[in-house]
Amino acid sequence: MDLLQKKFGTEDMILLEQLSEDSLVDNLKTRFAHDEIYTYIGNVIISVNPYKPLPIYTPEKINTFKNCKIFEMSPHIYAIADEAYQSMRDQDKDQCILITGESGAGKTEASKFVMSYVAAVCGKSAEVTRVKEQLLQSNPVLEAFGNAKTVRNDNSSRFGKYMDIEFDYKGEPLGGVISNYLLEKSRVAKHVTGERNFHIFYQLVSGCPDDLLKKLKLERDCSKYIYLNEDINALDGMEDATAFAVVRHAMLTIGFSENEVASVLEIVAFVLKLGNIRLDTSNQTNSADSCFVNNIKALDGICEMIGLDSSILEHALCNRTVEAKKDKVATTLTVSQGYYARDALAKNIYNRLFNWIVNRINESIKVQGVKHKKVMGVLDIYGFEIFEDNSFEQFIINYCNEKLQQVFIELTLKEEQEEYVREGINWTQVNYFDNAVICDLLENNLTGILAMLDEECLRPGQVTDATFLRKLNKVCAGHKHFESKETTNARHIYDKTLPANCFQIKHYAGKVTYNTTGFVDKNNDLLFRDLSKAMFCAKHALIKSLFPDGDPRNSSLKRPPTAGSQFRASVSFLMKNLHSKNPNYIRCIKPNDRKAPSIFTDAIVHQQVQYLGLLENVRVRRAGFAYRQVYDQFLKRYKMLSKETWPKWEGKDRDGVLAIVAALQIPSDEYAFGRTKVFIRTPQSLLLLEERRKQRLSELVTIIQSMFRCWKCRREFLKMRESQIVISAWYKRHLEQNRYRQKKASTLIIQAYIRGWKARRQLHELKQDKRLNAAAATISAFWKGYQVRKEYRKYFRTDATRIICNFIYLKILQAYFKGLKKSLPSMSPSDKSWPPVHYKYLTGMHQELRKIFYAWKCKKYREQFTPEKKAIFEEKLYASELFKDKKALYLRSVPQRFQGDYLDVKKNPKYQKLSSAVDSQIIVSETVDKINRSNGKSTPMLFLVTKSHCIFADPSSAKTKDVISLTDIAQLSTSKYSDGIIALHLKQSATAGSKGDFLFISNHVIEVVTKLHRMLLTTTKEKVNLQTVNEFTVRFKKDNVSVKVMEAAERNGTKLTCKKKNSHTLEITVQKE
Ligand SMILES: Nc1ncnc2c1ncn2[C@@H]1O[C@H](COP(=O)(O)OP(=O)(O)O)[C@@H](O)[C@H]1O
Ligand SMILES: [Mg+2]
Repeated sequence: MDLLQKKFGTEDMILLEQLSEDSLVDNLKTRFAHDEIYTYIGNVIISVNPYKPLPIYTPEKINTFKNCKIFEMSPHIYAIADEAYQSMRDQDKDQCILITGESGAGKTEASKFVMSYVAAVCGKSAEVTRVKEQLLQSNPVLEAFGNAKTVRNDNSSRFGKYMDIEFDYKGEPLGGVISNYLLEKSRVAKHVTGERNFHIFYQLVSGCPDDLLKKLKLERDCSKYIYLNEDINALDGMEDATAFAVVRHAMLTIGFSENEVASVLEIVAFVLKLGNIRLDTSNQTNSADSCFVNNIKALDGICEMIGLDSSILEHALCNRTVEAKKDKVATTLTVSQGYYARDALAKNIYNRLFNWIVNRINESIKVQGVKHKKVMGVLDIYGFEIFEDNSFEQFIINYCNEKLQQVFIELTLKEEQEEYVREGINWTQVNYFDNAVICDLLENNLTGILAMLDEECLRPGQVTDATFLRKLNKVCAGHKHFESKETTNARHIYDKTLPANCFQIKHYAGKVTYNTTGFVDKNNDLLFRDLSKAMFCAKHALIKSLFPDGDPRNSSLKRPPTAGSQFRASVSFLMKNLHSKNPNYIRCIKPNDRKAPSIFTDAIVHQQVQYLGLLENVRVRRAGFAYRQVYDQFLKRYKMLSKETWPKWEGKDRDGVLAIVAALQIPSDEYAFGRTKVFIRTPQSLLLLEERRKQRLSELVTIIQSMFRCWKCRREFLKMRESQIVISAWYKRHLEQNRYRQKKASTLIIQAYIRGWKARRQLHELKQDKRLNAAAATISAFWKGYQVRKEYRKYFRTDATRIICNFIYLKILQAYFKGLKKSLPSMSPSDKSWPPVHYKYLTGMHQELRKIFYAWKCKKYREQFTPEKKAIFEEKLYASELFKDKKALYLRSVPQRFQGDYLDVKKNPKYQKLSSAVDSQIIVSETVDKINRSNGKSTPMLFLVTKSHCIFADPSSAKTKDVISLTDIAQLSTSKYSDGIIALHLKQSATAGSKGDFLFISNHVIEVVTKLHRMLLTTTKEKVNLQTVNEFTVRFKKDNVSVKVMEAAERNGTKLTCKKKNSHTLEITVQKE
């Protein structure tokens, strides 16, 4: 794919046909014109800033570079990143990626591409993704707080950044550490026209949501803030607003809490508003020029936000306390001193906040608990800068760049060439400019500019920037790279462009004129103690924590190290760090000064190519070898490529390497043998070695894998066999146990059967014996009997047995009858008892005798009766047939004699009249209570029954009232209870029937009804119906009346009550039994 692409210019400048500075720049230009911004010099990549977005950073692009060798693809920053990442992962070499170039050349962008490439190619697990996100998100946060628009670059890093990304053995990111170098804090209070303050201020003002803006008491107008330059910021309002959201989100992703984000923004707002504090001369105090805060309201506002008493801050801004040993001298400040203090405070707060943010990010991304880490460092430091007015910051920045150039020279030009010589390789020296002399001018401990500045700052007495310059003029006068008005004048060269308060340094990248104004102050970097103390009083936790030196308990008077010496120390630490890692270079070139795309200004590029030493770089590379390695390391890495060296080489390392090279048949001009190292000329040869190694490794891995699999399988097999033996032993045991149990059970059964059979046989034999014995005994008894009988027959009577039997039988009968006679029951017919019998065979006869005796006893009893008594009993029998078990009164009537004619009508003169009216025999006469048909009340009445009639008569006059012929009676009714109610139901045709049926109460109801019924039977020869019921119907006159007989709920003395409920119902309540 890549091979088919059209190529513009030479991709690797080592291969340039005619090497000169012009051809080199031309090559870059040709490539740049076709948007090929990357070009190699060996493994150094040159990047020319396109100033426009190019479609070469897509995920697809990342995929093509993944696991490809650097030489296989056209130049790309991803190839460098991949090379570094792979060597780190596979060869365990810590890497650093050094990105150098002028301000605006594209270093920061390059560092981001490297980081995003590494993030894209390593693992994708949730934890790795989280770490990657945190690492990547640190960029927008640090850029917001540490970058600003300058004339060179709209997004210029105003701090140096070195980030170590730490990986585990698999090459997956674990976390990292960020080191930051000297923030250009002076920008907080002041910046050149056309530039801007740090991005975050604009982002906060234009992007923060309305409610937060209100809370921070900010206005959405940058022009309201003195620290923000009015003329530029409006342009980027929209971008700043979106960037704010991105930064906020990034902070949260990194792990800042909502509270922390809020605190940070509060401090930013505080700094911004601090710039608006105005001072004025006081006219109240004695000293006319002492200052006071003019807009106290604004001061109150910002102090309220950080929880600080505004008078404390005001005092700190307008006064200064000088502490000398035990004395304290307080002086008031002039307006300009006051402003100086205000700006110093703002810068200081911002600088400390920035350091805090870096530390906070480090806290989130730091790796814990992993001992063996692989590290990839990415250095993105501010680029070389030449402004119109260069100050201390530029001095520091350029010093740093000078040091980086030195590292480059040392590692790619000097070291390499020295190594060839050292190793005894044939080598013609390539000349180059070594900037060690400039570094010495800057950092020499005794005569270096930084050392002198420190000396000046620490010196007692009057110290100013002028005294510092004077000192420089004295010490550095002879230095080739140092110039000032005084030194040029001394040499009678009158350079008008060099002002008196400036000095000039010829850096590797060009001449820079530094204005000494502020050098001493900036190096001292002192904040008035009053201000830090005031800040420590704030209730705002974060701001308080930023000023530990304001703590009164921390009242050390020791001077903190100067900014210059701090920076020097950190740069020297950085250099050590870089030297300990394998360097990868990205050299950025700025094609024009206008930040414009598609413009390639030759002069500018020429200058950069020169000072970067690219030509020398190509020369050294061309003559040199792409790869070198000490023999034992080489042997260790490639010993598997030759049969002789694998698996172990016993001889000298050098010979081993020779054997490998010979085995691979590498042409002799492709390698060289030094004293301690082997040199490989082209990357292609190295590639061949690596390819073979990869192949061989996979073969070896296959062998190891197969051995391991075999061992694993065998181990598993042995384990299984062992287990199988155990299982089969147990199974066999179980099987045998079962079989044994079965056998035992069967044996027992067989045994039992045999024993049973034996026992039965024995029994059978015994029984046989017994039977034989018994038969023998019987036969012998019979025989003996027969013998005896034969012998004694003459002495016995033949029927003696029968006689004896009869005798015994008779005796028993005799005894039975005698006994029976003695124990006969009484003669009462009601006594049904009969003595028991002791002989079973007599039971039949005994029962027969019992029946006979009972019948005889009854007959005897009956024979005693006279005809009258018999008639009485007959009548009683008749009554029992009618009433037994039907009417409750019956049982009481049984012992009562039936007298019949209770009134004795014939004899009693009172009833003479009645007697004469009755012609036939009176069967019943008595006084009854007749129930009135109309109202149910009863009246006493005489009642007679003759052989042909029933008669009702008046009791007092004995006059007949009603006469009923017996033949007219259709039916009789009584109740079930023990009352005396009688109803005579007459036939419809009866003569007395017009009045209806008769209902009356008799005292001898059983007797009356019995006799009347009997009489009716004899006269009519028909059995009249008698109903014994509690509810019946009578006919009164023409109506049918229902008579209900009820038992009273309780005894109440009255025998009977009769109530006519209505014309159809008559209720009779009788006494309870
Ligand atoms: N590879 C690139 N592709 C597109 N634009 C780029 C690239 N590199 C740099 N730039 C542009 O150049 C500007 C400056 O780059 P930057 O990396 O900030 O410079 P430096 O860090 O060297 O000062 C960026 O804001 C961007 O607009
Ligand atoms: Mg930058």
